[in-house]
This record gives sequence, structure tokens and C-alpha cells, in this order.
Amino acid sequence: MRAHFPNAFIKGVDISPERIAICRGRLLDAEAGRTQFEIGVSVRGEDAAVYDAVLAMAVFRHGQLGDYAVTENRLLDFDRFERAVTDLARTVRPGGYFVLRHSNFRFTDTAVAAEFETVGYAQCVSPLFDRSGARLPDQAREAALFHKR
Ligand SMILES: C[S@@+](CC[C@H](N)C(=O)[O-])C[C@H]1O[C@@H](n2cnc3c(N)ncnc32)[C@H](O)[C@@H]1O
Repeated sequence: MRAHFPNAFIKGVDISPERIAICRGRLLDAEAGRTQFEIGVSVRGEDAAVYDAVLAMAVFRHGQLGDYAVTENRLLDFDRFERAVTDLARTVRPGGYFVLRHSNFRFTDTAVAAEFETVGYAQCVSPLFDRSGARLPDQAREAALFHKR
């Protein structure tokens, strides 16, 4: 992230204290003022419309759904996914970007997606499921980059 955004304030949030400890351990002193890591399960405490870009990379997924023989998702709940991405989307400023990759659900199936325009696609490497849990047909690429109106 820092290589791509040399001057940005960057905040990383993860539910895992172990992973946050690894991130903090890797943080260079020179980065400390503009890079933060936080243990957390949601971004509900963040102010609205403050971030230029919010990325959720390989978070909304389950390894056992990676088996292409799975036709029904009984492991992840769409409503929880929708609540989480709605919280994330709230923190994106108008004109900013939301990135969703390697998810087992589609951002475009959520109500909050109406506030965004899809502006980028990427190779789809994870099986996708609809709101009811039914497996969607395989697709070569997926919507991945969303611009907030
Ligand atoms: C497959 S890793 C991906 C990590 C990183 N985003 C990347 O692309 O390398 C998934 C991460 O999501 C975190 N995670 C899972 N559920 C979460 C939640 N509800 N809130 C915050 N982080 C969560 C896990 O602890 C894990 O670090």
C-alpha cells in the first residue's frame, strides 16, 4: 500500500491481534505518523466520508467455499456481509473508491452499491454466491473497483 500511495495516511484494521502485531512489528519508525493498525471487527466507529479509498482484500470469504463443487453457501451470511460493506462504504468520501477482491459475495448485490459506479474489473478467482446462498455461474472477471458518486 505504501509503495502505491507514498504520501497517504493508511489505516489497517483486522480482527486478528496476531496479524495486527505482525503489521506493527514491520512498521518502520519513519512510517509511524501516517500508518496505523487497529484490532477491530468493524469500522462503525470511523467518521463518515473521510477516506479516499477503502479496500477489503480477501476478507469476505471462506476457504471451504473455494471448492468449485460447492453449490450452496451455508458458511457465510449475506446480511452480515451487507452490513459490513455498508459500514465500509460509509467511510468513503464522495469521489473516492471502494475496492472489493476475493469475496464470495458481490458488492453489486447490496443496497449501498447504488451509491457507487463500477469502474474496474479483475479476474474472478473465487466462487460467488447470491443473497440466498445459491452459487452463481462461474465468471471470468468480477467488478472490483467502485467509484462513489
Ligand atoms: C485472507 S486474509 C487477507 C489479509 C489481507 N487483506 C491481504 O489481502 O493480504 C483475511 C483477513 O481478514 C481478517 N478478518 C476476518 N474477518 C474479519 C472481520 N470481521 N473484521 C476484520 N478483519 C477480519 C482475518 O483476520 C485475516 O487477516
